[in-house]
Amino acid sequence: MSKMINRFVCSECGYESSKWLGRCPGCSTWNSLIEETVNQPKNHPLQPITHPIPLQEITQDELHRMPTGNSELDRVLGGGIVPGSLILLGGDPGIGKSTLLLQVASDLARSGQKVVYLSGEESMKQLRLRSLRLGIEEDGVYLLNEQNIDQLEASLKDLKPAVVIVDSIQTVYTPRISSIPGSVAQLRECTAHILEYAKRTETTFFLVGHVTKEGALAGPRVLEHIVDVVIYFEGDKNVSFRLLRGVKNRYGSTDEIGLMEMSGQGLVEVNDPSYVFLSPGQNVSSGTAISSSFEGSRPLLIEVQSLVASAGPGYARRMASGIDQNRLSLIIAILEKRRGYPLATHDVYLKVTGGLFLKDPSVDLAIAAAIVSSYREKPIAADTVFIGELSLSGQIRPVPFLEQRLKEIDRMGFRKVILPESSVRRVYPGSRLELIQVRTIDDLVERMTEG
Ligand code: TYD
Ligand code: MG
Repeated sequence: MSKMINRFVCSECGYESSKWLGRCPGCSTWNSLIEETVNQPKNHPLQPITHPIPLQEITQDELHRMPTGNSELDRVLGGGIVPGSLILLGGDPGIGKSTLLLQVASDLARSGQKVVYLSGEESMKQLRLRSLRLGIEEDGVYLLNEQNIDQLEASLKDLKPAVVIVDSIQTVYTPRISSIPGSVAQLRECTAHILEYAKRTETTFFLVGHVTKEGALAGPRVLEHIVDVVIYFEGDKNVSFRLLRGVKNRYGSTDEIGLMEMSGQGLVEVNDPSYVFLSPGQNVSSGTAISSSFEGSRPLLIEVQSLVASAGPGYARRMASGIDQNRLSLIIAILEKRRGYPLATHDVYLKVTGGLFLKDPSVDLAIAAAIVSSYREKPIAADTVFIGELSLSGQIRPVPFLEQRLKEIDRMGFRKVILPESSVRRVYPGSRLELIQVRTIDDLVERMTEG
């Protein structure tokens, strides 16, 4: 026996209410509650009773990880996939999610695992064509054309795959809910259903989720709460480089990024990332500065480009891509206040090459240097790297992991490093680098204007 009930679900946080509310009590968003009709079974089937287990009795190898065969994905996952986990892979349409997961399926199959690829977006024929293009020949990858999630268990019963890829979570549905696939309630129910199956059978699921223009996973954020790992696949579709970024990971850190390149034969891992972010024939024009940004456990060399131009009437424009807009405003304010640059009457544009979004404050000094260079129309010497965080008073603060950064700078063939004063003592021995210490923004500008 079952009965139909109406409920209201917040599309932002998943808050449930029996009546409509203008403002969600869960996340305070206005007009986010959506009505859903749910077919609720009257009697819940009897669940077996579970008992608490002492923590010490849980053996370590229960957190055994299975490498996917893709070193960049493994890096973001924290060393491989944990059996029974739910991994959400979000990203814009066309960025390469299906390509990545089909390749992962093939890699896992090569190591002897059975993988089921449930496709709701592409036909079996399309997938076969893609697999031919990617050169996938392994046994062990199976395709499933089943959108009804309630049938999943029956479909997988005989094969018992180790990994299931659901492409995408927005195309599957459960007939227990009357709303269309991709709606809030459908996403929640289907993911909850998959979660239960995954934990019970120790099957790992990759769930593909499309991202809306605003950057949120289409529909509710609630999916992020249910799953174990959330990874975003990012990049500019016009550039071949792609970035895997961990947003949530119950089994590891979320600092790591993975780098891949889209080629004619699918995605290939990028093993020397610093080459990616530096443009060839570096620094011939003014407004370009190199810095070191620590992403996860890797120091990457990146290029910051700035353009300072006289503003028209009205407010001057500030546009930042690859760093927080507020950070750009702050650095501009420091340059105005401490150095008297008339930037209020200038538009300032700033761009980080390669599509990275930098949070590491050590890039501050390079941003300031790029702006000064563009304002003065004087290029910066191509062999120079800037590291340092700017404080509001114009002081340049020390940065962590200096030794690793310097090693990478040395390896990439740069000769001069402009860096905070206090950190020079900890420099690694044997370095061929010329280290130039700066204490304040004044020191930096003086360094840049002399010669
Ligand atoms: P796809 O994996 O379908 O993206 P998503 O699943 O995120 O929507 O990727 C589609 C794009 O990738 C498409 O524009 C073609 C391109 N591509 C390559 O450049 N090389 C390849 O080997 C493959 C399979 C796709
Ligand atoms: Mg796809």
